[in-house]
Amino acid sequence: MLKRKLKIALPSTGKFLFGSGFAGMLVIGWFIFPMVLYKSEPQPIQFSHKVHTGEQAGMACEDCHVISDDGRFLGIPAVAKCAECHSSPIGESANEKSLVENYIIPNKEIPWHIYSRQPDNAYFSHASHVRLAHLKCEECHGPIGESARLKVYQVNRISGYSRDIWGENISGIPSHPWEGMKMDRCVHCHEKNGRRDGCIECHK
Ligand code: HEC
Ligand code: HEC
Ligand code: HEC
Ligand code: HEC
Ligand code: HEC
Repeated sequence: MLKRKLKIALPSTGKFLFGSGFAGMLVIGWFIFPMVLYKSEPQPIQFSHKVHTGEQAGMACEDCHVISDDGRFLGIPAVAKCAECHSSPIGESANEKSLVENYIIPNKEIPWHIYSRQPDNAYFSHASHVRLAHLKCEECHGPIGESARLKVYQVNRISGYSRDIWGENISGIPSHPWEGMKMDRCVHCHEKNGRRDGCIECHK
C-alpha cells in the first residue's frame, strides 16, 4: 500500500521540483539579473517632446537637433537654446522652475544622459544617415520625438554602456524594430543597402 503511494508521489514531486527550479531560474534570468546588471540614473530634469513639437511650441526636430553646415551633428541643444523661450518661467510646472533656477539663470549646461551613446571606438555620422541615406529619426530611435516623458536612463554596470545599445529585452531579441543598436544591426542594414564595410569604416 505504502509502496504504491510512493510510486505515485515520486514522479509528481520530481515534476514539482523541476518545475519550481525552472520557474526560479526564469525569475532570476528575466527579472533579478537585469535588476542587478543595470543601474538606473534618472535624467536631471523631465522634458516633454510632445509639448515642444506640438501646438504649444510648434517646433521642428531640426530647431533643436541641428546638423551644421560642415556636417557635424550638434546633438542635444545647449541650454542657451532653451533660454530663448524660458529666460523666465512661462508655465506653472515644477520642472520648468527647476530648468530656469538650476540651469538657465546660472547658465549651466544640463547633464543629459544619452540613451543611444555608442562606445568611443565606434564612429557614427548623422549627416550620412539623415541627409544621404534619407533615414527617419524614428527608424533608429523609435518614438522618442513624440514622447511626453523621458524614460529612466539605465547603464550596464559591467560595460558602462546604455541599456538601449543592447535593447530592452535581456534575450537580445527586440520587441520593436527600432530597439537596440548593436553592431549586427548597423552591419545588417548596411548589407541590405549593398554596403560591405571594413572594420575601420566604423571603428576609428
Ligand atoms: C526644444 C528642443 C527639442 C526639440 C524641438 C526636439 N528635441 Fe529631441 N531632445 C531634446 C532634449 C533636451 C533631449 C535630451 C534628452 C535626452 O537626454 O535624451 C532630446 C533627446 C532626443 C533624443 C534622444 C537621444 C538619446 O539617445 O538620448 C531623440 C532621438 C530625439 N530627441 C529626437 C527628436 C525628434 C525626432 C524631434 C522632432 C520630432 C525632436 N527630438 C525635437 C530637445 C528637443
Ligand atoms: C520656441 C520656444 C521654446 C524653446 C526654445 C524651448 N521651450 Fe520648453 N516650453 C515651451 C512652451 C511654449 C512650453 C509650454 C509652457 C506651458 O504652458 O507650460 C514649454 C514647456 C517646457 C517645460 C515644462 C513642461 C513639461 O512638463 O515638461 C519644460 C521642463 C521645458 N519646456 C524645457 C525646455 C528645455 C530643456 C528646452 C531646451 C532644450 C526648451 N524647453 C526649449 C517653449 C519652448
Ligand atoms: C541610422 C540610425 C540613426 C538615425 C536615422 C538617426 N540617429 Fe540619432 N543616433 C544614432 C546613433 C547610433 C547615436 C549615437 C551616436 C554616438 O554615440 O556617437 C545617435 C545619437 C543621437 C542623439 C544624441 C546626441 C549626441 O550627443 O550624440 C540625438 C539627440 C539624436 N541621435 C537625434 C536624432 C534625430 C533628431 C534624428 C533624425 C533627424 C536621428 N537622430 C537620426 C542613430 C541614428
Ligand atoms: C557598420 C559599422 C561596423 C562595422 C563595419 C564593424 N563594427 Fe564593430 N561595432 C560597431 C558598433 C556600433 C559597436 C558598438 C555596439 C556593440 O557593442 O555592438 C561595435 C562593437 C565592436 C566590438 C565590441 C567592442 C566593445 O567595446 O563592446 C568589437 C570587438 C568589434 N566591434 C569588432 C569589429 C571588427 C573586428 C570588425 C570588422 C570585421 C567590425 N567590428 C566591424 C560597428 C561596426
Ligand atoms: C537603417 C539602416 C542603417 C543603420 C541601422 C545604420 N546605417 Fe550606417 N549607413 C546606412 C546607409 C544607407 C549608408 C550610406 C549612406 C550614403 O553614403 O549614401 C550608411 C553609411 C555609413 C557609414 C559611411 C559614411 C560615413 O559617415 O562615413 C558609416 C561609418 C556608418 N554608416 C556607420 C554606422 C554605424 C556605426 C551604425 C550603427 C550604430 C549604422 N551605420 C547604422 C544605413 C544604416
